[in-house]
Amino acid sequence: MLENNIMPIYEPGLKELVKKNQDEGRISFTTDLPGAVQKSDVIFIAVGTPSLSNGEADLQYIEAVAREIGQAMNGYKIVVDKSTVPVGTGDRVRKIISESQTGEYGFDVVSAPEFLREGCAVGDTLNPDRIIIGTSSKKAAQIMDELHKPFNAPIVITDVRSAEMIKYASNAFLATKISFINEIANICEKVGADVTEVARGMGYDKRIGNQFLMAGIGYGGSCFPKDTKALIQIAGNADYDFELLKSVIKVNQIQRYKPIKKLISILGELQGRTVGILGLAFKPNTDDMREAPSVEIITELKKLGAGIKAYDPVAGDEARKVIKDIEYCSDPYETMDGADAVILVTEWEEFKNLDLDKMKKLLNIPLVIDGRNVFDPAEMQAKGFIYTGVGRRQIAYLTREYRKEAAAAVEKLTK
Ligand code: UGA
Repeated sequence: MLENNIMPIYEPGLKELVKKNQDEGRISFTTDLPGAVQKSDVIFIAVGTPSLSNGEADLQYIEAVAREIGQAMNGYKIVVDKSTVPVGTGDRVRKIISESQTGEYGFDVVSAPEFLREGCAVGDTLNPDRIIIGTSSKKAAQIMDELHKPFNAPIVITDVRSAEMIKYASNAFLATKISFINEIANICEKVGADVTEVARGMGYDKRIGNQFLMAGIGYGGSCFPKDTKALIQIAGNADYDFELLKSVIKVNQIQRYKPIKKLISILGELQGRTVGILGLAFKPNTDDMREAPSVEIITELKKLGAGIKAYDPVAGDEARKVIKDIEYCSDPYETMDGADAVILVTEWEEFKNLDLDKMKKLLNIPLVIDGRNVFDPAEMQAKGFIYTGVGRRQIAYLTREYRKEAAAAVEKLTK
């Protein structure tokens, strides 16, 4: 597929980038591992490290590829681990390569963790904030430094174990930031503050930074959920109880169910209700459904007896593999047509410019649960929607005086 410029994943700009480099003779693809190893000076390992049932990273793919590299070696090689691996894996890779070599060839193992995000992978790769190179070899450090210089980013040369930890610590910190702002959002809802304003105000502080302060329905994807669990295991194996990170995971789990709680608080029982879902992928600009909050939200809604209509601009095919027995729609308006409420799960650009008047006409009850704070609460209220975002001031709708008003509005509209 790759040789024919067919990308197995949806990632903006990737196809074009691969094509350009293929046309200019800089990249080719093969399934002949020994051939590729023998032709290369630097070999990057970029296989998956999924979670085992106890949360630990499954290293079987790393170990298999290290063995094959060892067997295929024909001279000095630098073996770079890009996969996210527990601290100490570099030593394990070194041992496996040594034991599987057929001749005595020199080699160095380097840890160079990856920091790109899905959905903006090309931009992140070409403009990294920093490059981490973990190695104990001066020669490997020098070659890696030369290789990465054109990126024009700070290069941090460190030891292998610290490099491996930098990756987990970074992802765990970002996950913590998200759970933190989500908890602040939950408090904002209770005290009448607006989390987007709070995040804006906090973000100007350089020590805090303005990124990853978007409150929502929690983080998903193949990285944060897996890496936070793995870091707790890494700590546990070293006899350390990582209490803070455990709470981060717990908060994230609770956050996913917030839209359902809000629905119930307005509609009461969900049995027989139809709920529209806007967005299924774990984040915009990807078709990745791994740990997507939509899966748990839809599963729970179905358990409560609701019928589901759903739409995602690109993740429909992937979603069909994991979410069955729902109605997949071909555009957002079809999703809302006749629905008793709509939950916005993924903040695709397309949803930011929806025709609100059309939405209102199509929905059976103009109830919008915005899981990603895409809409402007004042505008939604002015248009007559029953609207709730995450941590927005308008959540008053659901509490105290507004709660009655919302219930009355729903009753009137249902009639
Ligand atoms: C994440 C890291 O951001 C990358 O640096 C890292 O390389 C990658 O994991 C990895 O380990 O491979 P990714 O999971 O692709 O990248 O995407 P993010 O943009 O980090 O989003 C993760 C989740 O957090 C999404 O569900 C997103 O909706 C959520 N999120 C993000 C928030 O809820 N609020 C925010 O402010 C930011």
